[in-house]
Amino acid sequence: MQAKPLIATLLGSAVLALGLSGPAVAGSWDDMDPQEFEAVLDKKFAEGNYSKQGADNCLMCHRRSEKVMALFDGVHGRADQSKSPMAGLQCEACHGPMGTHNRGGKEPMITFGENAPLSAEKQNSVCLSCHQGEERMAWHSSVHNLEEVACSSCHQVHVAQDPILDRKTEVETCTSCHTRQKADMNKRSSHPMKWADMTCSDCHNPHGSMSEAALTSTTVNNTCYECHAEKRGPFLYEHAPVAEDCAACHNPHGSVNDAMLTQRAPQLCQSCHASPHSGSPIFNSGEDRMTAGKSCLNCHSQVHGSNHPNGSALQR
Ligand code: HEC
Ligand code: HEC
Ligand code: HEC
Ligand code: HEC
Ligand code: HEC
Ligand code: HEC
Ligand code: HEC
Ligand code: HEC
Ligand code: HEC
Ligand code: HEC
Repeated sequence: MQAKPLIATLLGSAVLALGLSGPAVAGSWDDMDPQEFEAVLDKKFAEGNYSKQGADNCLMCHRRSEKVMALFDGVHGRADQSKSPMAGLQCEACHGPMGTHNRGGKEPMITFGENAPLSAEKQNSVCLSCHQGEERMAWHSSVHNLEEVACSSCHQVHVAQDPILDRKTEVETCTSCHTRQKADMNKRSSHPMKWADMTCSDCHNPHGSMSEAALTSTTVNNTCYECHAEKRGPFLYEHAPVAEDCAACHNPHGSVNDAMLTQRAPQLCQSCHASPHSGSPIFNSGEDRMTAGKSCLNCHSQVHGSNHPNGSALQR
């Protein structure tokens, strides 16, 4: 029952500030402009005209939809949990008070998804009225929130098991919008995301975080060290960019080059070391070790840092 006043306040405030009041409704709400739509909902919430029979009432008309009924296979359809919608306002906990909706279906209900007339922020306020846990602390400042991605763009509730919570199908949902990362992860060298051994949320918090790119750890490097601890060092001879930013040389999503490198050696190395060995006999001798095979890595094999007493130039 907790959800009601919160939703009413969140939905109401913006509308009241604009001084709108709810007009009488007739015809399809799909054609309403968003402000008009919000005004109607605001009026409904003010009236608080919830159905006395709860879900039973809704199902008189909606039970033939398999999609609607699938709600009861998932967590939101369980009545045995005190905080569940089914233990309180039931369907109306998410879709708002019924009002006169049942009279010919003329009064709009809150709907979800990209084509819904209500803004993502308002849709999300419904979900957040029950879900303001620690995991979503950074939601309001997250890029997903600012870009108006709705909770329901990632989550489904009228299902037995929400596909985005399944590691096998999470990546599919993310890459339906993130096509560049999809292309990268299908390149020759990538993290094993195609086989669900890894997922996007191993490195990113989809609800936002205090770090750059919503990473799960405080920095790019700390995120990498979670699984590649051996690269943290300390090393007797450090390679400066390694300790600073793994992404200076690696694309974490994948690359056409070995080891997910952004470029191949020698170009990769020369992007920072413009002309190493200039004037040195090694370089001018046309030594094929400069360009052949692993190029610079033929000699500088310890590119992440060396612990060898003679490894000052990142050799072994
Ligand atoms: C008397 C029949 C009737 C009752 C009772 C009823 N509805 Fe509806 N509902 C309709 C009709 C008709 C539509 C519009 C046709 C459509 O889009 O499916 C509709 C549309 C909806 C939609 C929008 C679907 C969409 O795809 O845009 C939602 C959500 C909804 N109803 C929820 C509810 C809820 C929740 C209840 C109970 C509180 C309820 N309805 C009770 C008949 C009813
Ligand atoms: C936890 C919130 C929540 C509850 C509770 C809930 N719904 Fe929904 N409903 C949604 C969301 C979100 C969607 C958008 C589709 C999706 O993500 O599954 C939706 C979609 C719908 C639709 C449109 C379905 C379609 O065919 O596209 C109808 C109708 C509907 N709900 C009716 C109901 C009825 C009736 C109940 C109660 C038995 C109910 N809902 C309970 C959140 C909820
Ligand atoms: C009336 C309160 C209420 C509302 C409103 C509500 N939820 Fe929930 N939700 C719950 C409860 C209770 C659970 C089960 C316990 C838990 O995991 O916190 C749950 C669980 C979840 C889970 C985890 C599901 C799982 O299988 O473990 C997701 C994801 C979720 N809700 C998303 C949503 C989204 C998206 C919306 C808005 C469309 C929404 N919820 C609206 C109460 C609510
Ligand atoms: C960009 C996609 C995306 C969006 C948008 C999103 N989620 Fe999630 N959510 C996920 C993924 C992936 C997981 C599972 C992995 C995790 O917890 O990091 C998850 C887990 C959850 C869970 C279950 C575990 C937990 O954290 O309690 C809940 C509840 C939840 N989300 C609610 C919401 C709500 C509410 C919103 C909107 C404010 C929302 N989510 C927006 C992707 C998303
Ligand atoms: C409905 C579309 C949509 C879905 C689904 C989606 N995203 Fe996004 N995401 C966006 C948009 C839009 C942006 C902002 C523009 C951009 O960076 O592409 C964004 C940005 C991001 C960013 C950059 C954040 C920052 O702080 O710079 C990350 C990381 C991200 N998404 C991860 C994910 C993950 C992980 C998932 C799946 C759990 C996911 N997204 C699902 C639309 C989506
Ligand atoms: C191994 C960790 C890791 C995994 C797995 C991962 N990312 Fe990232 N992602 C990063 C890092 C690190 C950055 C920041 C890149 C930088 O600083 O150049 C980033 C940046 C992003 C951005 C911001 C735009 C950009 O490229 O800088 C988006 C969007 C994004 N990731 C989406 C995704 C999606 C979608 C998935 C799953 C298909 C995913 N990421 C999997 C580590 C990861
Ligand atoms: C959740 C664990 C995890 C995180 C976090 C992680 N990795 Fe990985 N990484 C892996 C796994 C698993 C492999 C595959 C190992 C294998 O194939 O033997 C891998 C492989 C690699 C490879 C070698 C790829 C190849 O084709 O040889 C590179 C380079 C790499 N990771 C860089 C990074 C960078 C940079 C970061 C931080 C942005 C990072 N990883 C974060 C788990 C992780
Ligand atoms: C200056 C460029 C550069 C930076 C910065 C860098 N790497 Fe690498 N990394 C390479 C090169 C080059 C290879 C290929 C080595 C080879 O082929 O012998 C590689 C290979 C790898 C591999 C696969 C082979 C192995 O050694 O395990 C992993 C994993 C890896 N790097 C992780 C990281 C992590 C984690 C960071 C940040 C702490 C990082 N790298 C920073 C250049 C770099
Ligand atoms: C993002 C820039 C960057 C990239 C890419 C890069 N380096 Fe470096 N490298 C540095 C910096 C900065 C130093 C430290 C320079 C100094 O202390 O004067 C350094 C130092 C070195 C040193 C000298 C170590 C010493 O202390 O004398 C060698 C050898 C070296 N890099 C080899 C390579 C090789 C081989 C590659 C390609 C795999 C590479 N670097 C890629 C920035 C880079
Ligand atoms: C044939 C082996 C060999 C190859 C190939 C090689 N180096 Fe070196 N490099 C050395 C040795 C040995 C030193 C240390 C002695 C010196 O200072 O000349 C060195 C020193 C360096 C230094 C630090 C000294 C300085 O201030 O110049 C850098 C930076 C460097 N190499 C970068 C590169 C890059 C980039 C490549 C690929 C284009 C490369 N090296 C290819 C053997 C090699």
